[in-house]
Amino acid sequence: MKITDILLKSEKPTIYEKGTCFMWTDPHISEQLLSVHLDPDIDLASRKRTSILKTIKWILDLHTNLNKLSILDLGCGPGIYSEIFAQKGHKVTGVDISRNSIDYARNSTQTKELDIEYINASYLELELPKGKYDLVLLIYADFGVLLPQERIILLQKVYESLKPNGKLIFDVLKDNNIEQKKIPKNWEVCDSGFWKNKPYLALSESFIYKEQKVILYQHNIIDSDENIETYRFWTHFFNQKDLKLLLKESGFDSIRHRDNILPEDGLWNGDNVIFTVASKSMEIT
Ligand SMILES: C[S@@+](CC[C@H](N)C(=O)[O-])C[C@H]1O[C@@H](n2cnc3c(N)ncnc32)[C@H](O)[C@@H]1O
Repeated sequence: MKITDILLKSEKPTIYEKGTCFMWTDPHISEQLLSVHLDPDIDLASRKRTSILKTIKWILDLHTNLNKLSILDLGCGPGIYSEIFAQKGHKVTGVDISRNSIDYARNSTQTKELDIEYINASYLELELPKGKYDLVLLIYADFGVLLPQERIILLQKVYESLKPNGKLIFDVLKDNNIEQKKIPKNWEVCDSGFWKNKPYLALSESFIYKEQKVILYQHNIIDSDENIETYRFWTHFFNQKDLKLLLKESGFDSIRHRDNILPEDGLWNGDNVIFTVASKSMEIT
């Protein structure tokens, strides 16, 4: 391998240029992610269990008028939220692109004798039933890593899948102090680790696209066979006005925000995160 190959891979790309790999479905990485999801004490693939419980309490307090909600949990991972809602008597469908997470979720549902439907699919491609759900969830800043055209596709699908007065609840990262949300350049050499089960060098860095309020978090993984794989996370930052505009364009009417659900604990928590509740109109059009 030539050093120039690595240098080329470290140049700032044009906005939204694709990487070469997708993290969530890689067989090795999705094993690593599953154990991180299930660790109740860290904010990584899922939030800490205390934050999850707080979030669920807040969501259910918004729905005290309905005993049994029909819930769609998009990007449900191993079903941590889905299970808690099901244990409280709600009817849940979870969708996730990771086969590994869905297999885990299905086994766990059987063991706990819960009635949850899990679907292994991309929520960008899956056809959703129309007018079925009281509540659609997209939790842990997943909305912000969608590309602009993917956001529109997803919002339209979700809108149609909601009952009148049904709600979409999701969280995004706030656009305050964006510069501070870059990660410094970092490298890691491993015999086996998060990215690969063989020796690798991971070169991580981030690039800011100020005008679009986007940071690209990028990881170039060079393995012992001298392959280079590039993982890219195009992460968008928002304020309440941006969100209102996007949601109104997709037909949502009542739109409310909260930025005090999570503990004050770093850049991905506290008031650095905006939760949004967007409702479909009561009137059927
Ligand atoms: C940050 S994790 C959050 C998981 C879960 N919402 C939680 O908070 O515990 C993002 C999840 O979205 C899933 N995901 C990413 N892109 C997806 C897509 N296009 N369709 C379905 N699931 C997707 C990943 O596999 C992963 O489980």
